[in-house]
Amino acid sequence: MKNLRKVVFPAAGLGTRFLPVTKSTPKEMLPIVDKPLIQYGVEEALKSGFKDIIIVTGKGKNAIEDYFDYSYELEDVLSKRQDKEILEEIRRMPKEVDVAYIRQKNPLGLGHAIMCAENLICEEPFGVILADDIIDAKIPVLKQLAEVAKKMNAPVIALMEVSKEMVKKYGIVKGKKINNRLWEIEDMVEKPDISSAPSNLAIIGRYILPSKIFYYLKKVKPGKNGEIQLTDALKMYAKNNKIYGYLFEGKRYDGGDKLGYLEANIRFALKRKELKKGLLKILSQVIENEHK
Ligand code: G1P
Repeated sequence: MKNLRKVVFPAAGLGTRFLPVTKSTPKEMLPIVDKPLIQYGVEEALKSGFKDIIIVTGKGKNAIEDYFDYSYELEDVLSKRQDKEILEEIRRMPKEVDVAYIRQKNPLGLGHAIMCAENLICEEPFGVILADDIIDAKIPVLKQLAEVAKKMNAPVIALMEVSKEMVKKYGIVKGKKINNRLWEIEDMVEKPDISSAPSNLAIIGRYILPSKIFYYLKKVKPGKNGEIQLTDALKMYAKNNKIYGYLFEGKRYDGGDKLGYLEANIRFALKRKELKKGLLKILSQVIENEHK
């Protein structure tokens, strides 16, 4: 697979798991320390060599567009204050990325969100990042997948082993093991019960997809939760075409879950020199108090 430069971020979801804050703040804009969740995904895409960012938005998501744009008022105030460091930081994203936005007018599921980007993708293979899945990795996960996709000349999805109790939260694949990290996928199912899960290999929100996926997305009927599921389209694709799963290297946090989100905040804050000492002190005091 050549010419990998476009990446789609589905960001039209209602964020119901984070209500009430998501009533007026897009989930993608919730901070991990001091950067919005979606920025971690956008930075991963850029570091992976994907320069064309496509964000599928919906009602109430204007804050995302404002974030990736210049803010002249703010820049004016900061430059008068000679606050160079923060000025550079707020200019960095609009300078580095050009984002194309498309609206998903009805929240009909992940597969439908991807379908909305069809006209912007055209005939190229493309990446997908679900920003909720925050992944801390030495080599950005999208890059890990892109390398496999180029080598195998086929689409690739990110996989992670999960416990049996967790299979109901993910797309789960059945495949043939090729090596320690690589699987050839034969089948997959969206959020199965423990009893019907074909394995404990879960799909995590990074994909390298062929443009042919749009053909299958148009064919699938509403699946789990009445939504158009990407997993169902991939399952159809896998029947006639090769597709691989890759056990990525890195630590993933579930930013769509309150505990996962809190953990990501703590872990990313601990990576910051100026915060580490103070935060460790607070955490140990909290633990001590809880055990009293
Ligand atoms: C989506 C996909 C699912 C995948 C998951 C990873 O589900 O449909 O296959 O395992 O992302 O985070 P969601 O969590 O959006 O319901």
